[in-house]
Amino acid sequence: MHKKRFFGGIALLALTSSGCGLANTMPERDTMVPAEPTMIDFVDPATVSGLVPRTLPSKDKGSGFVHISYPQLPDAPRLTSALRAETERTLRAFEQATEHAAGPELNVDWQLAAVSPQVVGVRLRTGQYLGAGWGNSTKTLWYDRGTGRATGSTGLLSGQTAVQDLTKQVETRLAERQPGISLTPDHLDSMAFNHDGDLVVEFDDCQVGPCSLGRLAVAVPADQAELSETGRRAREAAREAPRAAIPMTAPTASPDAVSNRAGSVDCATAKCVALTFDDSPGPDTAELLDKLHQAKARATFFTVGGNAAARPDLLRRMSAEGHLVANHTWDHRDLSKLSSSRITDSFGRAEDAVTTAIGETPRLARAPYGAVTKDVQDVARHLGLALVGWDVEGKAQDIPKKVHPGAIVRLRDTGGATVAAIPAVLKKLRGNGYTLVTVPELYGTTGMQAGRLYRSGADVTRRAPLT
Ligand code: NI
Repeated sequence: MHKKRFFGGIALLALTSSGCGLANTMPERDTMVPAEPTMIDFVDPATVSGLVPRTLPSKDKGSGFVHISYPQLPDAPRLTSALRAETERTLRAFEQATEHAAGPELNVDWQLAAVSPQVVGVRLRTGQYLGAGWGNSTKTLWYDRGTGRATGSTGLLSGQTAVQDLTKQVETRLAERQPGISLTPDHLDSMAFNHDGDLVVEFDDCQVGPCSLGRLAVAVPADQAELSETGRRAREAAREAPRAAIPMTAPTASPDAVSNRAGSVDCATAKCVALTFDDSPGPDTAELLDKLHQAKARATFFTVGGNAAARPDLLRRMSAEGHLVANHTWDHRDLSKLSSSRITDSFGRAEDAVTTAIGETPRLARAPYGAVTKDVQDVARHLGLALVGWDVEGKAQDIPKKVHPGAIVRLRDTGGATVAAIPAVLKKLRGNGYTLVTVPELYGTTGMQAGRLYRSGADVTRRAPLT
């Protein structure tokens, strides 16, 4: 059985009605447990063997910023196909809806609602920015390892009649709080079980009631829902998962030095180039690390916290092999659309994930999409993070033609094509006299300051960071 910890919950406005089933789920076992019946304990993805987060390569079609990730399990190909199909549907709908919108953004990330030898539940969380603010929605897909089938949330129920019954039941509960709410079975697209085995039904922002209600969820006692075989397995998985507090790993070091083994190269005189990889770790990271290792090259990895938390082993490998592990926020949203507190939260959660993995606090960060504002710089200064941009990007194979001494090259760790091209790229760069370094090595003894933005080391001979 997978080790499980309280990894976050759904912060939802609960219906605190005195109706049956809503008040009888106060947990007594563990003070760490939220007393909120609509809270779900998500499974720590790092405890799920073979899981790897996949980030879809971003397609820049002028339709705004898009970042989509979902988990891949080696023994559940149909779950992977279902997640891919679902996220592609979301992307198409977003592209149609935002044809004329200014600065739209789509962000999909995920959590594990349950994992057992029998079932897997994946909660996809979608944020869409269409110009006026973020709209959030969730959808939970279930995979039954016994039947090899993936279903939507209504697959937890025993059939159409059970779906209709639950719709009515949830509608009645919601009506106690907000008269006039009417539900259809389509609204039941994000369901999972809490630790007590109650079925938690959650709704998207503004989906079934006025937006002023906030986010809504209802916990239905499991004996009041007709569960399918998959549903019963999912309920067991949630009930049996042991709970544990989050292990608070204290950083073993919080070094001033921002690079492992930095200082061996003087980039004021040598021809240096810093390769940086964004959005790690993912399915191709291990192979990328193999190739860098074979070539004895070092790089800087801007890791997304959600991915890092799923595969801390890959971060440990990066660090052990001399690469620099840096912060690329928790969920890869355009920070210029977020408040300072949300920016702090996104960097902070990613920092925790990296620190837990490698025992060192990252001191460099890159803003998703390179979107750096004064707020972002202020937060970074406060958190002790130097911001890193880039001055060369493109397809990996074109990099040797574009590069110049002191370049910061941005590549993405989200596609096999980059990995395949890397050995030839490294060979060519070295053939042209370049030394491959991490970003802080470009700046050498000049150092890098928190809150400043560094786009290129080309000026390093003047011993002055660019702002
Ligand atoms: Ni990125």
